[in-house]
Amino acid sequence: MIVTIDGVAASGKSSVSGGVARALGIPYVSSGLLYRAATLLGLDAGLDLGDPGALLAHLSSHPVRLEPLAEGNRVWRADRELTDDLHSTRVDKGVSVVAAHPQVRAWVDDQLRALPEPFVAEGRDMGTAVFPHAQHKFYLTASARIRAERRAKERPDDIPDIEAALIRRDELDANQIAPAADAQVLDTGPMTLDEVITTILRAVRA
Ligand code: C5P
Repeated sequence: MIVTIDGVAASGKSSVSGGVARALGIPYVSSGLLYRAATLLGLDAGLDLGDPGALLAHLSSHPVRLEPLAEGNRVWRADRELTDDLHSTRVDKGVSVVAAHPQVRAWVDDQLRALPEPFVAEGRDMGTAVFPHAQHKFYLTASARIRAERRAKERPDDIPDIEAALIRRDELDANQIAPAADAQVLDTGPMTLDEVITTILRAVRA
């Protein structure tokens, strides 16, 4: 069984996916972390993020491993853990450029499709491009202001700056973020985290 939870930036996907996965007793996988890892490694190597050839060559000589733990995904490059460095403002800014390269998307998709079922997959295109056959699909939205207020608890920046950056990232990600035709769309703005998780669990168990 595969449950897909897609949605816009900072819509609560990771917290919701983690909660749903723990309740179901299965792992969750965050595809965004792999895009973030590709971006971090490219930035650290001083590569041009607009050059997919250079990025892919670097990624194939520095393999990245996603560890889909129930309490939170971790990402490794050899024995260096990248997880804590993946949510910096510089990675936020570069990741959409990296994620727009079809070669990078194939690098991420291959890793996700190699994972053994069951799991919850979280991202932008899990229910559309990567796992179109998934049994249960959800798509989370919320206004940019509400998402910025939530994210301000995790970033040092001001709410208006975060809001502007989120709107910009939504625009850059627009190719990836349409909900699947068979996804249940949830506006998480007026909902608590527990309410979103409960709504999804009810639908999965129905
Ligand atoms: O989910 P998160 O905000 O961490 O994702 C970071 C970025 O990775 C997104 O802004 C998007 O550019 C890219 N992404 C994607 N497709 C996915 C997941 C993430 O393009 N399935």
